[in-house]
Amino acid sequence: MLKVYAREVSGFRSLGKILASIFVAFCFATQSLTAATASIFHPPLDPARPRSSYIAQAKRGMVVAAHPLASAAGEAMLKAGGLAVDAAVATSFALAVVRPQSTGIGGGGFLLYHQASDKSTRAYDFRERAPALATRDMFLDTKGNPTSFRYNGIDIPDSAVNGHLAVAVPGLVRGLVELHTKYGKLPLAQVLAPAIKIAESGFPVYPALAKLLLQRESVLKHFPGTFKIFFRRSKPLQTGDLLVQKDLAWTLRQIAAKGTAGFYDGAVANLIVTEMKRGKGLVTANDLASYAMREREPLTGAHRGHRIISMPPPSSGGAVILEILNILEASGANQEQKLTYGSTGAVHWLTEAMRRAFADRSIFLGDPEFTKVPLKGLISAEYAASLRASINPLKATPSSEVKGGDPEKFEHPSTTHLSVIDSQGNAVSSTQTVNYYFGSGVVAEGTGVLLNDEMDDFAKKSGTANVFGLVGSDANAIKAGKTPLSSMSPTLVFDHNGKLRLVLGSPGGPRIITATLQTIINVLDHQMSLADAVHAYRIHQQWLPDKLEMEPDGLTPNVVKELKAMGHNVVEHVGMGDVEAIEVTESGLIGVSDTRSDGKPMGF
Ligand code: DON
Repeated sequence: MLKVYAREVSGFRSLGKILASIFVAFCFATQSLTAATASIFHPPLDPARPRSSYIAQAKRGMVVAAHPLASAAGEAMLKAGGLAVDAAVATSFALAVVRPQSTGIGGGGFLLYHQASDKSTRAYDFRERAPALATRDMFLDTKGNPTSFRYNGIDIPDSAVNGHLAVAVPGLVRGLVELHTKYGKLPLAQVLAPAIKIAESGFPVYPALAKLLLQRESVLKHFPGTFKIFFRRSKPLQTGDLLVQKDLAWTLRQIAAKGTAGFYDGAVANLIVTEMKRGKGLVTANDLASYAMREREPLTGAHRGHRIISMPPPSSGGAVILEILNILEASGANQEQKLTYGSTGAVHWLTEAMRRAFADRSIFLGDPEFTKVPLKGLISAEYAASLRASINPLKATPSSEVKGGDPEKFEHPSTTHLSVIDSQGNAVSSTQTVNYYFGSGVVAEGTGVLLNDEMDDFAKKSGTANVFGLVGSDANAIKAGKTPLSSMSPTLVFDHNGKLRLVLGSPGGPRIITATLQTIINVLDHQMSLADAVHAYRIHQQWLPDKLEMEPDGLTPNVVKELKAMGHNVVEHVGMGDVEAIEVTESGLIGVSDTRSDGKPMGF
């Protein structure tokens, strides 16, 4: 089988590769589907961006995060003798300052911790939860239609995404501080110091941040606490402007001095509750004080002789990734016919597996404390076999014909992921978010804290899409105290000897799942280097809407033609996640940041 692999990411796709792909497309144009072309390409790189900004090698420790200042914060902890969790917590708080569009201490997240000494892996859930006053139909009017958010006499569209009602009880601070107490070694004040410094003295606004501020201007401008920080002379900050967050620095100092009490009780909590009252939001002092992190049983599966450990419900990520890998594992397609990356057959099988697993996501998945999730069935080999049998190798199944099985028998991504390994081999994989860009858009005045809009991750009305086009069912309906279903998929991959091989994850709403999945498949099935695996073009299918998304130029014209002929609704989509990953190799650690975004791996 002819393979044209771009072995290294070194610049723009060369003319040679273009000619090679045309040649391959020509060669296979008249052959069978499964023999179609295979070329590894990746979205064009910024020629001004040095290679060291997205690939790093190290011996003792590595931090990969979506902003250089955040990676540097974590690396400084490792160099000071800190452990993986010290680095992860420092990086998380720094990300909360430099990526307000993605994450923040008004948000939440998931974290996998692998402890080298006893080879254990634990999963932690510090995601936002619905306030005690939340009700099932809180975002619907009397006719069952979505409501807008009325603030200061102005109607802002979509109350589940914008404004005070969209805010769920934040969990990030509880999670990070408690995990630091459990597994960290350095003092909390030292771990918070880089974030406090960046918030206090400011950092230059970068193009992606400026672009998203402009995109969200029409919402952000209505909230005085937000306006004060992110606007200058009535305009959103622009590239190169200094973003200074004095109030956020003050809040971070409360946390450095008092731990979780610095956020969930006292002055900061009071200011958050005051803000909630100002906009008729539901989060109360009691919601904040009673917020608890939860330890969950990580989800484990296997693929190509490797063990995959990922996040269980209330994330859908682990279950959907394992379900897809199970469908593909024994798919005659990949195994026997050795389908190559980017070929019609490989894309078809991957798409059909995604379609079925995302249908199950919509129907069965929700907070396990409130919904019986048939998890064992969903990730069982037998169930995967039954789904595999329903895939026509030559034809797309319309999503309208995929109803969920019977397991009992944009753009720049918001959200952010970080991966860390320390010199002892401990590892952290954590994905954190405020949900949509800049969350609810509301800063609790006086705190600098942008509050999340995680309530939109609930199914507000059965069958109605959320901001990411995902539909859900009763399993993910709103209830007081319930956690909205997530796609965040912090993941670890171990080799057949049980040795940690990969630490990875991504932002990107539902594309979190498929970006993480395809990176794993690229390494394990297509034997790519980690850099190729992360940078390679991706596809996405999420059941509904019934679309096979590909990055522009992501598939050769011939493959697109064949997929369309099979019934796939192929469309272009820009914005397929932002993977931050580490590989443990014989010769050391390799850190890779996705060139789709602004990350940087740093190690020593
Ligand atoms: O938890 C989730 O699945 C979403 N709140 C993640 C949102 C996200 O990744 C936004 N990025 N584009």
